[in-house]
Amino acid sequence: MTEQKFIIPQDYHITKADRQKSFKHKSFVVWFTGLSGSGKSTLANLVEQRLHSLGCHTYILDGDNVRHGLNKDLGFDEVSRQENIRRIGEVAKLMVDAGVIVLTAFISPFRSDRQMVRELLQADEYVEVFVNCPLEVCEQRDVKGLYQKARAGMIKNFTGIDSPFESPTQPEIEVKTDILSLQESMEIVFQAIQDKIMIDEEDDNNDND
Ligand code: ADX
Repeated sequence: MTEQKFIIPQDYHITKADRQKSFKHKSFVVWFTGLSGSGKSTLANLVEQRLHSLGCHTYILDGDNVRHGLNKDLGFDEVSRQENIRRIGEVAKLMVDAGVIVLTAFISPFRSDRQMVRELLQADEYVEVFVNCPLEVCEQRDVKGLYQKARAGMIKNFTGIDSPFESPTQPEIEVKTDILSLQESMEIVFQAIQDKIMIDEEDDNNDND
């Protein structure tokens, strides 16, 4: 453990509100959670395209990508997954401070880890999207062939097979990707976050004081 008491946070003049104002939109996290193959990345991709076309500054943090870089030292046991989500939560928080709308696509199977990220951010800065797709359907899709390997015992601690997924109990948004088309799911997510994008007049006035 580092000597945290000797590290004093520094304040800077340009704030999150300043950056949001120059970007002309708010910043927050859209946190997609669900089984491997449920459609998290595909949905995040579609929502990002929509936001980007409106001129929003966006970024996607994706499990398969981040685990090749920042988190390449982490595995899939419970403690490693917790650290994976903790780091992503901190990175997402920095990006929100930088004024960016962050979309994350991580299985994030544990409720306590998702709650930890929620608590890192302001109440209106975390939007949880439960990408709900039954295991049977994800396994049937098996886009990456990983379920087959997990069933064959070649991959240990695979979510849904020999590692749990704790479904969100109160997500802000839920999309059933086995029933809806990707376009329909994207519309549901976009409609739900649309109102969060604009900077409030009141915030604007306060900043001008
Ligand atoms: S998380 O559980 O820690 O949130 P994360 O989203 O970063 O997982 O990574 C999941 C991706 O890693 C999956 O989409 C899959 O491609 C790959 N993967 C490799 N091993 C496993 C495993 N044991 N369980 C789940 N996904 C795995």
